[in-house]
Parts: sequence; structure tokens; C-alpha cells
Amino acid sequence: MKMEGNTILITGGATGIGLALAESLLEMGNEVIICGRREDRLIEVQNTHPGLHIRVCDVSEEESRRSLFKWVTENFSDLNVLINNAGIQRAIDLKKGIKALEGENEIKINLEATIYLSALFIPFLESKEESTIVNVSSGLAITPLAAVPIYCATKAGVHTFTKCLRFQLSDTSIKVFEVLPPIVISELNMEYRKKVGTTNTGIKAGKCAAAIVDGLKKDKFEIENLALDNLKTATMEDVDKLFEKMNGRW
Ligand SMILES: NC(=O)c1ccc[n+]([C@@H]2O[C@H](COP(=O)([O-])OP(=O)(O)OC[C@H]3O[C@@H](n4cnc5c(N)ncnc54)[C@H](OP(=O)(O)O)[C@@H]3O)[C@@H](O)[C@H]2O)c1
Repeated sequence: MKMEGNTILITGGATGIGLALAESLLEMGNEVIICGRREDRLIEVQNTHPGLHIRVCDVSEEESRRSLFKWVTENFSDLNVLINNAGIQRAIDLKKGIKALEGENEIKINLEATIYLSALFIPFLESKEESTIVNVSSGLAITPLAAVPIYCATKAGVHTFTKCLRFQLSDTSIKVFEVLPPIVISELNMEYRKKVGTTNTGIKAGKCAAAIVDGLKKDKFEIENLALDNLKTATMEDVDKLFEKMNGRW
């Protein structure tokens, strides 16, 4: 995709990978809008980067998604890129039964929001000469980590959805990308990482954003990002072995 002159919406853009991406894309000469639930974080980021546009939105709520769509399309008629990046990750012990699923809903935030926001924006994006949807899944979509089971299931859902979306939109002006980052140091999984003592494992958000920008520039539609590149040629058996190794280690 072209890397300058776009108008880009990044969900969950006030921290981590989304923020690093927002900073790069802003620097490259794009109009960038970020959204998230915490207004104070958005304002803080805007104070550092006055060129950024901000909007409070909870992508897991239909009304909030519709209000975001209305506000963005009314105020930024040139919008041509949607980056579905917002996400959460929870360590869930399924032996605790239904109680374990109380609280923040990964299915709504990670999967439902990606599907519904894509669908909301498709007709608008299709009217643009060149447009893009980027969905952020995870390496865990391919080789899951059993301690975060719902997260992995939602990311596998994003992976499958994005493949189908790319196929269906192949005769439109919309290019569809998927990003499958490896472990990135961010707020996302800090609680779990503290518990298992791996707080320093992973790459920095800036390095992840640079790999995403490079992949987008080269029209690499599945940006596997470092650790996962050789999974493209892996057999089912290789993937199973990696699953055993990852889960045995942690
Ligand atoms: N870190 C990793 O190791 C890693 C690896 C692979 C994939 N990923 C994926 O990369 C994406 C970004 O994660 P990150 O690592 O950068 O973590 P992060 O810093 O925690 O970023 C997640 C962002 O999503 C926003 N968000 C969460 N729930 C939301 C909601 N309901 N509505 C709107 N915004 C919401 C958060 O802001 P608010 O809380 O203010 O809403 C936050 O800014 C996620 O999809 C994650 O699954 C991360």
C-alpha cells in the first residue's frame, strides 16, 4: 500500500503497538486518528503528538462502534485505512468453570469488534480509490498458549476471518492485511508475564511497528513478523510440536 497521504483510523492506538504504529504513520505524512476507552491516555498521547486526532470509543459496544463510524466518516471524509488493533489478553483457568469467564470479554473486544468494524467500514472504504483494512491477530492464532485460551481462540478467529475477508474483497479497492506479531513488550500481557517472570521477553513495540510498516509497504498480506516466518512452511506436526514446547516451557 502507499505509505503517505492516507487517512488512518487505529483502534487501541494510545499504547503499545498501536501507538508505535500511529507515531510512524504520522511521521510518514498521514492523517492519523486513534481511539480507545481511556480518555486520559488519549489526551496524554495527543499532548505529545498534537497532529494526532483522538476519540473515546469502546469497540466492544455496538453503539460506541456506530458512533465512532459516524464521527470519523463525517469529520474525515478521506479516511481510507482501518487498523483493527485494539485487544486484551486474559489468563483464564478453565477448571474454574463459567466463573473464569466473568469480567472483560475477549471475544467481544478482540473478535466481534474486528468483524463488526470491518463490516461497518467496508462500503465507505470501497468508495475510495485505494483503501486498506489491517487486522492485528497474533502468532498465538497459529500456535496457542493454553494459559490464555480465549485470547488464542479469538486471534485464530481473526486469522480465519481476515483470510475470508481478503478473498471476498479481492475484486474491490480494499486491500486486506493481517499482522501476526510475536511477543511484544506492552501492557497487554504484563500481569501474566509478571506471574511467570518473563517481563523482559519480547521485542519493543517500535520494532514491531517497523516490521508492520515494512510489510504494508511491500504488500505482504500476512505480516508474520520474525519468530513466525518459518511457520509458513511448517507441517501440522511441526505446529503441534511447537505447541507442546511452548506450553511445556510456560
Ligand atoms: N503484546 C504482544 O505480545 C502481542 C502479540 C501479538 C499480538 N498482539 C496484539 O496487538 C494488539 C495491540 O496490543 P499491545 O500489545 O499493543 O497491547 P496494549 O498496549 O495493551 O494495547 C491495546 C490497546 O487496545 C485498547 N483497547 C482495549 N480494549 C478496548 C476496547 N474495548 N475498545 C477500545 N480500545 C480498547 C487499549 O486501550 P484502552 O484500555 O484505553 O481501551 C490499548 O490502547 C492487540 O490486538 C494484541 O492482541 C500483541
